Amino acid sequence: MLRAAEAPPLAPDELRLHWCPDPGSADPPEPRRQRVDRLLRTVLAAHVGLPPHALAFGREEKGRPFLRHEGAPDFNLSDTRGGTLVALCRQGRVGVDLERIDRIPPVGRLSRRWFSAQEADQLDAMDAESARLAFLRLWTAKEASCKATGTGIFGYTPRWRFDARADTPRLLEPPSDAGDAARWQFFRLSPSREHTAVLALRDAITPRLTAYLLAG
Ligand SMILES: CC(C)(COP(=O)(O)OP(=O)(O)OC[C@H]1O[C@@H](n2cnc3c(N)ncnc32)[C@H](O)[C@@H]1OP(=O)(O)O)[C@@H](O)C(=O)NCCC(=O)NCCS
Repeated sequence: MLRAAEAPPLAPDELRLHWCPDPGSADPPEPRRQRVDRLLRTVLAAHVGLPPHALAFGREEKGRPFLRHEGAPDFNLSDTRGGTLVALCRQGRVGVDLERIDRIPPVGRLSRRWFSAQEADQLDAMDAESARLAFLRLWTAKEASCKATGTGIFGYTPRWRFDARADTPRLLEPPSDAGDAARWQFFRLSPSREHTAVLALRDAITPRLTAYLLAG
C-alpha cells in the first residue's frame, strides 16, 4: 500500500481506497465522530482543491454523505474497531462495508431478520463456522450495496440476493429499484489480518483499484 501523502490526483477510471488503521492508543481517546471527520477531510481535500476545513458536506435523504463541490468525487466510508476504510471514485457510486473477521454474530437469529428466507435456509444447513463465515460474506456484500445506493439497510438487506458461498460477492438479484445486476461490480478486500471488506460499485466501467495507507 502507498502512503496517502504520495497519492496522485484521482484518475477517471480509478476506484481508490484509503485504509486508516486505528491502534486505539490515542490518549485521551479521540471520539469516533471527530476521528472520522478528520480522516475524511484529509483524504478528500486534495480532490476538491481546498484545505480540509473548507470542505462542505451534504447528506442524502437516508444519511449518505456527499461533497457539495462541483466535480468532487463520490465517496463512502465504513469504520469498525481497528480501522476506517474510505473509498472514492469519479464514475458511478461506491459503497463500502468493513467488518472484523473475528465477529461471532448470532447467525440464526440475524439471518432470519436481515437475509432472504433462501439465504437463511442455506446458512441453517451449514456447520457453525461455515455459517459464521457465510454470514459475514453476505452481510458485508449487502451493507456495501445498500451504502452505494444510499437506501440504508432497513427493509433492503433481504432484497439484495447473493451467492452465500462466493467470497467475492456474486449478485444473484438486486432490489428492483437498484438497477440491473449488470450495472454492479463488487470487490472483496482484506485491509488487515483482522478485517474483511466489500466495495460495491454501480455504473462504472471496470475500475483500476488502488490502495493507500493513511496513518493516524
Ligand atoms: C448506513 C448504515 C448502513 C451505516 O451502518 P454502520 O454499520 O453504522 O456504519 P459504517 O461504519 O459501515 O458506515 C457509517 C458511515 O456510512 C455513511 N452513511 C451514513 N448513512 C448512509 C447511507 N444511507 N448510505 C451510505 N452511506 C451512509 C456515513 O459516512 C457514516 O459515517 P457517519 O456515521 O460518521 O456519518 C446504517 O446506519 C443505515 O442503514 N442508516 C440508514 C438510517 C436511516 O434509514 N435513516 C433514515 C432517517 S431516520
